[in-house]
Amino acid sequence: MGKGKLERFAQNATFEHVVQPTFAELINTGFALKGKWNSDFFHREAPLVLELGCGKGEYTTGLAQLYPERNYIGVDIKGARIWRGAATAKEKGLTNVGFLRTHVDHLLRVFGPHEISEIWLTFSDPQIGKDRKKLTSPLFQARYKEVLEPGGLINLKTDSPELYGYTLEQIAEHKLPLFEKSDDVYGELVPRSTPEFQAVMNIRTFYEQMWLGEGKKIHYCRFGLG
Ligand SMILES: C[S@@+](CC[C@H](N)C(=O)[O-])C[C@H]1O[C@@H](n2cnc3c(N)ncnc32)[C@H](O)[C@@H]1O
Repeated sequence: MGKGKLERFAQNATFEHVVQPTFAELINTGFALKGKWNSDFFHREAPLVLELGCGKGEYTTGLAQLYPERNYIGVDIKGARIWRGAATAKEKGLTNVGFLRTHVDHLLRVFGPHEISEIWLTFSDPQIGKDRKKLTSPLFQARYKEVLEPGGLINLKTDSPELYGYTLEQIAEHKLPLFEKSDDVYGELVPRSTPEFQAVMNIRTFYEQMWLGEGKKIHYCRFGLG
């Protein structure tokens, strides 16, 4: 039987790899791990990778297993979902995984300048009709540029033709470097890619499995901010 929400919240509070900053920390006193995730949380220097809106953290934990030499942080506002990822990381003994429960709008309060090497956006809410809120909008691009190291990468995996099309338009409009693009990950990208990249693409999130069950195509692009 699944755990209740209250039980998950209580367990999150006991997990050393789950960080839940208070509003006061974010707004008044400053968040202690900002700019210090590698030194003070992971206790090792390694490329730091984020999954924003990670849900149950399938990419965070999946990539952490494929690339143990990198550090991974899953960010989501919902504690019960983060609990699943945190429990998976614990069950698998992953020491290169953390989860941060916060709103994505706090990105610049929780990460320091150029602290991040790569960002994953996995099945983000497409925010139909609300371009400013899309996680690939110019507002978010500007935030990512502050936290990403030069040459840092953004990966978008989505079922949404709207979010995918909007992101490709942004890439074209701002002349951003586009490193990979597929309208149909499993029909086109996975068959032609390397085994290593296939393993990355074959990680399937909770939402992705739902959309695949409905016969939807999955879209992917990987780009930089110039
Ligand atoms: C459609 S779900 C995708 C979850 C997961 N990536 C997956 O593919 O299964 C979107 C996720 O974004 C999170 N989310 C939505 N708005 C957020 C915000 N402002 N800050 C942080 N997380 C947010 C939700 O809690 C949810 O887990």
